[in-house]
Amino acid sequence: MVCKKCLPRQKKNACYEALAAQIAAVTAGEGNVTSRMATTACLLYHAFGAFFWTGFYLVDPDEEDELVVGPYQGTMGCLRIPFGKGVCGAAAAGRKTLIVEDVDAFPGHIACDAASKSEIVVPVSDATGRLIAVLDIDSDQPAAFDEIDAKWLEKILAQTFSV
Ligand code: SME
Repeated sequence: MVCKKCLPRQKKNACYEALAAQIAAVTAGEGNVTSRMATTACLLYHAFGAFFWTGFYLVDPDEEDELVVGPYQGTMGCLRIPFGKGVCGAAAAGRKTLIVEDVDAFPGHIACDAASKSEIVVPVSDATGRLIAVLDIDSDQPAAFDEIDAKWLEKILAQTFSV
C-alpha cells in the first residue's frame, strides 16, 4: 500500500506512526467530537494512496440500533445503516474490527460505490467505553487491509476518542 506521506521505502508501520502523532498533535485540546472525526477522516484519506473513502458512521441516538453517516472524505456514502447490516452494521453489532479482503464475498455488503473492493471497519468508543461510531475505510484495491491497519487504526481511535 502506497503511503503518500512517507518515503517510498518506508513501511506501513512508519506511515501509521507518523499519522498517529500528527492526529494527536492537531486534535490536542479540541473537545468537539465532530471536529475530531472530520480531522481524522481527512488525515487518513490523504495518507494512503489506496484509501478512496474514509469516514465515520455514528450511532444515532434517536434511532435504536442504527448508524447514520458522519464526517467523511470520498464519494457519497449511504446515509443510514441498521446494526447487523453490511460491514459497518456487523462491526457495530459485534463491537469488533472487521477486515474484508473481498467485499463481494461479504454477505450483505452495502455497495455505496462500485469501486470498493476491500474494506476495514473499526468500532469507536468514548471514554466510558460506550460505542459512539464506527470508522469505515474503503479501498479500490482488493485485500488492501491487514492486522497492521487494524492495530494502528484501533490505536488512533482510542487515543482520539476514548480519552
Ligand atoms: N460498504 C459499507 C457501507 C458504507 S460505504 O462503503 C461508505 C458496508 O457494507 O457497511
